[in-house]
Amino acid sequence: MPEMLLRARGVYVRFGGLVAVDRVDLEVRAGELVGVIGPNGAGKTTFFHTLSGVLAPTAGQLIVGGEDLTGHAAHEFANHGVARTFQTPRVFRDMSAEDNVRFGLEFAGRRRKHARDAFDNPAAILDLLGLGDVAAIPAGGLTPAKQRLLEIGMALGARPRVLLLDEVAAGLTHAEVDATAQLIRRVRDEAGLAVIWIEHAVRVLMNYVERVAVLHQGAKIADGDPRKVARDPAVVEAYLGEEGGGERKAA
Ligand SMILES: Nc1ncnc2c1ncn2[C@@H]1O[C@H](COP(=O)(O)OP(=O)(O)O)[C@@H](O)[C@H]1O
Ligand SMILES: [Mg+2]
Repeated sequence: MPEMLLRARGVYVRFGGLVAVDRVDLEVRAGELVGVIGPNGAGKTTFFHTLSGVLAPTAGQLIVGGEDLTGHAAHEFANHGVARTFQTPRVFRDMSAEDNVRFGLEFAGRRRKHARDAFDNPAAILDLLGLGDVAAIPAGGLTPAKQRLLEIGMALGARPRVLLLDEVAAGLTHAEVDATAQLIRRVRDEAGLAVIWIEHAVRVLMNYVERVAVLHQGAKIADGDPRKVARDPAVVEAYLGEEGGGERKAA
């Protein structure tokens, strides 16, 4: 069995009276590409915040590379090989694409090296993401699709073992989504990473991941083969109920 990189146990997050994440377990091993889906407000981003140390869970445990990091700061999670993107891309708009990636690399300079040497320089990372020809262009001048790829490049600079992607396909055209998904698989293969990919647009993600977990009102209601999960009545119900949306259970 490939090495266990990340294990979330009973992760629970409460904001006042609202349970945003309700005792979620998730295990991710080296080389896996796992999707996390769920209607808006299901708790996906909040769960990611706990996986990356941005937010300490109210209860539950986060084990990264065999170490219990529950309650530790985000930089400790990064030191243990967790990198992420944010739902709203955080590129430096006035800096060139290459300098954005260089920033990611320098920021990670103090960190342990996980990725192969091929990812030690910005040019290699930009090439992997198909951004080689826009290296000199200020990030703010790139298309939204390319800005999202660039943000993945910045995260790769941190030499992660686990890459967390939060809705990187949101707002992209069909063609861009396909291209982005193929690149995510390639990054996973070539950088030897585990990738956890959140997406609200279910159909897109289902075609590309090998396993998918479904969150609904904070709780995990399914986890497994995408084709089976897509037919799971509880999953269908969760998405059908989305139209009426917005209801949350109170603590
Ligand atoms: N900092 C916060 N304070 C209070 N409520 C929050 C906060 N962040 C998220 N929430 C609420 O938690 C729930 C889950 O949000 P979120 O994790 O962003 O869901 P998703 O990413 O699946 O759309 C939502 O009801 C949201 O309004
Ligand atoms: Mg979200």
